[in-house]
Amino acid sequence: MQAALTYLDQNRDRFLELLFEYLRIPSISAQKEHEPDVRRSAEFAQAALRAAGCETGIFEGDGLPTVHGSFGSDAAKPTLLVYGHHDVQPPEPLELWETPAFEPTVVDGEIRARGCADDKGPSLATVLALECLVKAGVDLPVNLRFIIEGEEEVGGPVVEQYLRANQDALAADALVIADTCGNARGVPALCYGLRGIATMQVEVTGPARDLHSGTYGGTVANPVTALARLVATLHDENGRVTVDGFYDSIEDLGEAEQERAAALPFDEAAHLAETGSPALFGEAGQTTLQRKTARPTCEINGLWGGYTGEGMKTIVPAKANCKISCRLVPGQDPERIAEAMTKHLETHCPEGVQITVTQDERARAVYTDPATPWATRACAAMERAFGVPPALSREGGSIPIVNVFQEVLGVQPILLGTYTPGERAHSPNERYPVEDFFAGIRTCIELFGTA
Ligand code: BES
Ligand code: MN
Ligand code: MN
Repeated sequence: MQAALTYLDQNRDRFLELLFEYLRIPSISAQKEHEPDVRRSAEFAQAALRAAGCETGIFEGDGLPTVHGSFGSDAAKPTLLVYGHHDVQPPEPLELWETPAFEPTVVDGEIRARGCADDKGPSLATVLALECLVKAGVDLPVNLRFIIEGEEEVGGPVVEQYLRANQDALAADALVIADTCGNARGVPALCYGLRGIATMQVEVTGPARDLHSGTYGGTVANPVTALARLVATLHDENGRVTVDGFYDSIEDLGEAEQERAAALPFDEAAHLAETGSPALFGEAGQTTLQRKTARPTCEINGLWGGYTGEGMKTIVPAKANCKISCRLVPGQDPERIAEAMTKHLETHCPEGVQITVTQDERARAVYTDPATPWATRACAAMERAFGVPPALSREGGSIPIVNVFQEVLGVQPILLGTYTPGERAHSPNERYPVEDFFAGIRTCIELFGTA
């Protein structure tokens, strides 16, 4: 083990340069023109797996490439399946980046680049840990399987196709994922809960084409007005979602959960400062921590319609659109929430327009026991790597594929929160402390090496 840590120390500069090279690839899964870049990032991840001693391959399904690697096949040893993603969110708006999104730069000890925290840094760390162990000659006590997918940020189908087609080869004792955040600078977290998700798009149509607002205005319904009124019916003034049945069947997670939440050193002021909002706001009767992790939400992600260009254009627009994402908690069934949302939107749509609701992503919340043997080993590994014990946390974000892993392979997810919160994932100026990268590598050296 010590030899692997020494190997890491000797290769810090090279590993950092390797991460920088990875971050220079704009592997934006949402944008068609970046398909070749997503392919290049897949090949980069494959090369890193190969250098770490894995047998590797790239799975081509109906979408963007999933990379896989396999190390060891001793039936007497447990197997860990490690998952991460090599795709990133779009960097726009570009003008808000202080340093270019795909030219990694260190500022105050933090790497700045799109994808540095979510998820190229933490997932590359899992692979480099294996390299350290192998190059140091450690006889690993586990077999390892890696899956690094290229469509996490767009919820693509390929990784699920790969999983279903390779169930037997992927049988594992636990699923290790480094794609959630820590608790404070230098304090890691074992994340035992993720919210689920249901997303949808709404189109409201009125006249067959944009009309002169003088000649026709006042005589037909305006789709933008109708949609504005409609989205305003989704919440009451206390921030509660008004959709019928929305809060039904939420599981009461009992005392252990209350205790864990109370023990979490959540800093509300720091949370507000991170957002840059003038004030906190959310569902009445709930704490900020509950609102961000343990309560469901309904957010309008975007709303548009009519003329938004320069100058004036006096029209009654033909249509208006919005995108909505609901975050779900244990007990909520994504299908039922999607149906309840559709019904609400259809029944509350003002008269004189037509509405179409299209469902997108759906995933259940994840909630797992933080006291199983693998979770306990992961905590011990994080404590040795960071020098402080991890917090036990629930996160508000979603990793939909975790459900599929659980369903198809029956594995428990072990979510390693190895990066500092405030990382600005999905925002301009995404950041990842250099030291978190090395602590992430040390975590996996400890976890893979002492299992
Ligand atoms: N790594 C995040 C998920 C995450 C973020 C977990 C913060 C815990 C804390 C992941 O890359 C992500 O962004 N997921 C999407 C899923 C969506 C595209 C279906 C999300 O949560 O919005
Ligand atoms: Mn991620
Ligand atoms: Mn993400």
